[in-house]
Amino acid sequence: MTILVTGSSGLVGSEAVSHFDAQGHEVVGVDNNMRRVFFGAAGDTLWNLERLKRTTKRFKHAELDIRDRAGIDELFKAHTFELIVHCAAQPSHDKARDIPILDFEVNALGTINLLEATRQHCPEAVFVLFSTNKVYGDAPNEIPMKELATRWDYARPEDYDGVDETCRIDRTLHSLFGASKAAADLVAQEYGRYFGMKVGVFRGGCLTGPSHSGVELHGFLSYLVKMGVTGGKYSVFGYKGKQVRDNIHSYDVVRAIEEFAAAPRPGEVYNLGGGRENSISMLEAIAKIEELTGRKMDWKYVDENRKGDHICYISNLSKLKKHYPNWGITRGIDSILEEMTRSARVTAGAK
Ligand SMILES: NC(=O)c1ccc[n+]([C@@H]2O[C@H](COP(=O)([O-])OP(=O)(O)OC[C@H]3O[C@@H](n4cnc5c(N)ncnc54)[C@H](O)[C@@H]3O)[C@@H](O)[C@H]2O)c1
Repeated sequence: MTILVTGSSGLVGSEAVSHFDAQGHEVVGVDNNMRRVFFGAAGDTLWNLERLKRTTKRFKHAELDIRDRAGIDELFKAHTFELIVHCAAQPSHDKARDIPILDFEVNALGTINLLEATRQHCPEAVFVLFSTNKVYGDAPNEIPMKELATRWDYARPEDYDGVDETCRIDRTLHSLFGASKAAADLVAQEYGRYFGMKVGVFRGGCLTGPSHSGVELHGFLSYLVKMGVTGGKYSVFGYKGKQVRDNIHSYDVVRAIEEFAAAPRPGEVYNLGGGRENSISMLEAIAKIEELTGRKMDWKYVDENRKGDHICYISNLSKLKKHYPNWGITRGIDSILEEMTRSARVTAGAK
């Protein structure tokens, strides 16, 4: 296959490039290192691009902005893509407040540019959009919760497996990021439902792994591990540090893309996270990282939660597992943290 991966120097994009290149596919990556524009030097993804160039066989990189419609059109004229994996984004809930127009242009306009180019040039291609659980805004906080010693959890047995795709996406506080991603999510569904194209939408929980250029405003586990290894300061915002996230390794994310691409369902939406087995609270994550690094973390508690932040978010994976029974979580939270700690140590030592 000829595959386009946008955001190819980022966490998910780079995992997709490596995975599909190793299988012998032609992979074209689009990334303009905009993560550095959003988050400064710590968000720079050039190291990951260099790694991909070193480790892949056929990967080609285009330094293109997905907002550049003419440039995207040229790219689609030059290649006949069979799979498009769209990962490029402004990915931060909090950052969007400072750059609302740029956030909307990258997330919403960038997505429709790619969908329309696909419709014009290769309408038979499979298109995978990375959406987010923030399209549900803070609606998941309405689920009754109980407070345990180190985490919040759902109080009712029927909520045990987490939030499914029927959760409403309107009349809720999203953050501007959640709203721009919801626009992309809806327009992508429409290209699936209205035009009948093979579009799949994946609403991510916490996607993670060693290839994340983690910064305070995005990639919490990667940043937390980095602070644990280097001794930097970390701030925990609100909810007594008991807020829960479900974490999925980028390898398992790419495996979901692969399963969808092999048997696409037009316009379908899936929640994609680590599920209950890979869920962890801030307090629990800090304790695990202290165990792995053998040193106390330097963190402080700020008694104000991030606006619209989830108290406990666990992705219900039932629909994805039902439609794609060959897919499942293969990397547990302990092994994810171990791998990230090893990798952060190597990076810290190399500096
Ligand atoms: N990581 C998570 O926890 C998480 C959770 C939910 C959803 N998602 C979604 O998954 C997708 C991938 O996330 P990620 O963690 O790999 O993000 P990432 O920031 O690591 O990667 C995104 C890449 O896109 C590039 N990019 C940004 N704007 C661009 C533009 N205008 N043109 C070209 N390239 C551009 C960036 O330079 C970066 O390398 C995003 O859509 C994100 O919103 C991520």
